[in-house]
Amino acid sequence: MGRIAALRCISCGVEYNPARVDYTCPSCGPRRGTLEVLYDYDRLRRTLKPSSFSETGFASMWRYEALLPIEDRRFIQPLRVGWTPLYAFPGLAKELRLAAFYVKDDGQNPTASYKDRASSVVVIKAQEKGRPVVTCASTGNAASSLSGFAASTDLRTIIFVPERAPEAKVAQLLIYGAKVFLVRGSYDVAYDLAAEAAEAFGWYNRSAAVNPYLVEGKKTGALEIAEQLGWNPPDVVFIGVGDGSVISGLCKGFDELVRLGLIARAPRVIGVQAEGSAPIARAFAAYRGRTVPIEDGDAHTVADSICVGKPRDIVKAVTYVARNGGEFVTVSDAEILDAIVTLARRTGVFAEPAGAASYAGLRKLAAAGTLEGKTAAVVVSGNGLKDVASPRTIVESPIPVEPSLKEIERHL
Ligand SMILES: Cc1ncc(COP(=O)(O)O)c(C=O)c1O
Ligand SMILES: [Zn+2]
Repeated sequence: MGRIAALRCISCGVEYNPARVDYTCPSCGPRRGTLEVLYDYDRLRRTLKPSSFSETGFASMWRYEALLPIEDRRFIQPLRVGWTPLYAFPGLAKELRLAAFYVKDDGQNPTASYKDRASSVVVIKAQEKGRPVVTCASTGNAASSLSGFAASTDLRTIIFVPERAPEAKVAQLLIYGAKVFLVRGSYDVAYDLAAEAAEAFGWYNRSAAVNPYLVEGKKTGALEIAEQLGWNPPDVVFIGVGDGSVISGLCKGFDELVRLGLIARAPRVIGVQAEGSAPIARAFAAYRGRTVPIEDGDAHTVADSICVGKPRDIVKAVTYVARNGGEFVTVSDAEILDAIVTLARRTGVFAEPAGAASYAGLRKLAAAGTLEGKTAAVVVSGNGLKDVASPRTIVESPIPVEPSLKEIERHL
């Protein structure tokens, strides 16, 4: 298992003993002081080889247990998390003038989003730490994911979601047995309330960025993309961005594979934000390699999962993407909705709006000619059934008919 060497603050670089600190750097605070999990990379480099992961026998992200921060493997849940398919679509690649085009379908996780990778790790950390109640604020997926994974254990879950969270996600929470607070206000408001409640009542907090172990689960998507392509990852990988934790995870995953000598170079990681919710893209554009500029605002987008005006992992996301050589692009809601429908019709993969943002970003850069001849992957981070109402607004309506062949003929 991945023994943790230290937790290091992303801003001041001070290292902490993981037994002493649960969440963020005490001097830099929760926003700038998010922590990075460090391992003994020299030891790992000596012990890990390309076949190490398949040899574990796990057809899940737990094949990367050696690179994950858990101490008690008895807590690994029976749910199959990760090791999701990476599909190749050569015809679509040709149309987009790419050398190859891949879709990583993370809608196939147990609760149907990428967030399961993080929840799986954090539920184990809660059990290791002997914390019986887990909580989080979420735009929806992190919460449904936490509820599902906690339901496979004897932990209790208490959730804070914004009042406008989509119906399917709220239903998931309730069905998994979480206690659910529908907070009057935005996700950003729910986030602060969850943090206060966790502190006041001693619950273990899984909210984005504040918990250092989340990014560890989130990095496994990168490890899988690399392994699934024979340790020869694509030139570019696209991902939708809200708080900035998933993209931080992807960057860290590729970076660790380079450090371990398992891949020669990391793909460029491209973050895609909605135009109405793009504070990380703006901070990245203004970043000059020193302090990450933070400017919060209101957020509006059809892609509820990435509707975040006060991104909590902004420092890590900007720092990691700059180091990776990646970039951010923004797309309109119309481009996101069109991406859902096009992706579904051309690949059979149905994404929720935030999950199709990656494809919308790829289409934008492909149209600008900057991806010509490259190999590219998009991460579909959430299943389309999570929000059917949004894409229904741009597709045809079904045709009501009497049960008569004549009537059918009339419509053909
Ligand atoms: C489907 C989906 N895609 C992308 C994201 C973005 O992840 P992050 O908020 O870590 O940037 C989320 C987060 O909720 C999500 O649920
Ligand atoms: Zn610090």
